[in-house]
Amino acid sequence: MSKINALVYDGTGLYIGLKLKSLYFVYFFAICGIIPVLWTAIYCLSNLYMKLAGPVNLKKKYNAKWALVTGASSGIGRELSKVLASQGLSVVLVALADNDKTPPHMSLNTILDELKSTYKGQEFRKIEASFNYGVDYMPAIIDGTKDIDVQLIFNNAGFIVSGFFDTTTLNAQLNNLECNTTSCVKVTHHFLQLLIQKELKGCIMFTSSVSGYFPNPFAIMYGATKAFVSQFAASLAIEVRAKGIDVLAVHPSPVASNFFNSVTHKIDALDMAKKAAVSPATVPKLMLSCVGRSHLGDLGGTAFFMRFFAAILPMDFLTGLISSVAPNLPDYQRNNKNRGSGGKKLD
Ligand SMILES: NC(=O)c1ccc[n+]([C@@H]2O[C@H](COP(=O)([O-])OP(=O)(O)OC[C@H]3O[C@@H](n4cnc5c(N)ncnc54)[C@H](OP(=O)(O)O)[C@@H]3O)[C@@H](O)[C@H]2O)c1
Repeated sequence: MSKINALVYDGTGLYIGLKLKSLYFVYFFAICGIIPVLWTAIYCLSNLYMKLAGPVNLKKKYNAKWALVTGASSGIGRELSKVLASQGLSVVLVALADNDKTPPHMSLNTILDELKSTYKGQEFRKIEASFNYGVDYMPAIIDGTKDIDVQLIFNNAGFIVSGFFDTTTLNAQLNNLECNTTSCVKVTHHFLQLLIQKELKGCIMFTSSVSGYFPNPFAIMYGATKAFVSQFAASLAIEVRAKGIDVLAVHPSPVASNFFNSVTHKIDALDMAKKAAVSPATVPKLMLSCVGRSHLGDLGGTAFFMRFFAAILPMDFLTGLISSVAPNLPDYQRNNKNRGSGGKKLD
């Protein structure tokens, strides 16, 4: 130590000072490096654990008899209902009534009959409900479940409205908001109160999307609703976990379901996602692997990649970047033709 002091007095202090400063830089970069390494390690290890551990048996874990799935007539909800039935659970299938549907929408009665004939010792019932703005669908759900304890709730119904916000009708946007978020709030509020009153364990899951991590031009309500449900799930999870109730939102990678077939206004980004889409039958296994182990589960390669991307790039920067290039994109130019006073509003 005294040697160093002597060196400083001998005029080599500049050298010692620089050496110390360079050490600060090393510490700084080491800490900066540790954060992403830690983030990646925690993220990858927890996902690996869920993959290896596999789907949770919900009937066993929660000593449950009944599950309820919204959007059960098609895609992820339809396949999820089959997997829940295969675990020995009875299932309430909630979806639009068949007579309100036109192709490509799938039949609620067909899946109900299929489950009834495959799993004879279990009960299955349907509740016809339209999660549209201004429709009071809760009485049908409350009445249809008043004699049973629903311990497993899957808020899965959802769809996307595409096109510029100002070129679509307010009604179309409010219907999207109602189905993707408000219905989830109403359904969750009802069944959560019952679980707490009856001191029952359970699970509440939301089918969200990685779209909630990013700005979603040309489908703004979709990303906003999915950001809402993920945030809602994460906060609610903290309030009820000590009561034995697991709450989580899952973010599937693109799934080849009616979700894409129902898009009325073409968007290139959706076409790209559709090309990478996996079968809906592969999703429930991943969903159930997250139960009790994760609160925001990313399912599949695209979701993992988007999650990394979102962690690296600040949303503000990304919004600035996209807004400066967006007017040159074909999606923007195509949809831009419908804007202004002469433009026709699209549903
Ligand atoms: N597909 C994807 O790439 C993807 C990716 C991430 C997240 N998600 C989310 O996954 C969930 C399920 O979508 P999916 O891919 O399985 O699509 P899907 O095959 O179109 O299924 C959506 C379900 O929601 C129902 N639904 C739609 N609008 C409704 C309304 N107003 N009221 C009541 N029910 C309504 C549908 O009924 P009808 O068939 O009768 O319309 C259907 O049962 C959605 O929340 C979606 O946002 C999908």
